[in-house]
Amino acid sequence: MMQANNQKLIEVRGLGKMFTLHNQGGIRLPVLRAIDFDASRGECLVLSGRSGTGKSTLLRCLYGNYLATEGTIRLRDTSEASEPWVELTNAPEQRVLKLRRDVIGYVSQFLRAIPRVSALDVVADPLQQRGASHEEARARAATLLERLNLPRRLWDLPPATFSGGEQQRVNIARGLIGGHPILLLDEPTASLDADNRAVVIELIREALAEGRSLIGIFHDEAVRDAVATRMLPLQPATALA
Ligand SMILES: Nc1ncnc2c1ncn2[C@@H]1O[C@H](COP(=O)(O)OP(=O)(O)OP(=O)(O)O)[C@@H](O)[C@H]1O
Ligand SMILES: [Mg+2]
Repeated sequence: MMQANNQKLIEVRGLGKMFTLHNQGGIRLPVLRAIDFDASRGECLVLSGRSGTGKSTLLRCLYGNYLATEGTIRLRDTSEASEPWVELTNAPEQRVLKLRRDVIGYVSQFLRAIPRVSALDVVADPLQQRGASHEEARARAATLLERLNLPRRLWDLPPATFSGGEQQRVNIARGLIGGHPILLLDEPTASLDADNRAVVIELIREALAEGRSLIGIFHDEAVRDAVATRMLPLQPATALA
């Protein structure tokens, strides 16, 4: 299918997130307020702002982990030709799960290790869920782990005992493999050495060239400068009150 390479994939309007701490006497904690942005294919938006401004919270809202308390998040479901736009804030759970399988990927800062599943299968899983055969998914997983310099002797072991940087590379490979048009990245290079950071920069650039849209948090300035097409600075929400 032909795709305009600047096709809009995300539209966020007036997004707000307020946490209510029920076991702290219902204290209300405003974190995000009045966030507006769009993101299109080939763009890498980098969230910036001091610690605690809500960068990770914003990614979780976009992934449907946190429910926004104000505003709208609309995602283009590229697998639905007839009614492509989904309003995430009131989408049924099944639709959110389908979006996560086909449309939106998320690389959290830490890998949530699945007991007894080998690194190769952890990485292959999202591609298999999208319909690829076991062999095909494992072959693609091997290519990614190879590029990310994960030693072969680790491929058949569960990642639970891997080093921080090894787990992070498994996590990145798992995030990239599904080919999701939208990819959220929370500090994907924080535990990596310079060589592996360079590989991740390369993989991110390839994803952008394929017309995927990335939204990420990168504290490393060199990585940020190498991948960002636009910055999205977040302010402390209380400062706006
Ligand atoms: N589930 C939650 N319940 C209550 N408060 C939360 C929750 N998740 C996040 N917060 C609060 O929201 C604020 C923003 O947190 P968040 O993790 O989004 O910040 P961040 O910008 O990613 O910071 P960092 O750069 O340190 O990772 C923090 O004050 C945090 O305590
Ligand atoms: Mg964070």
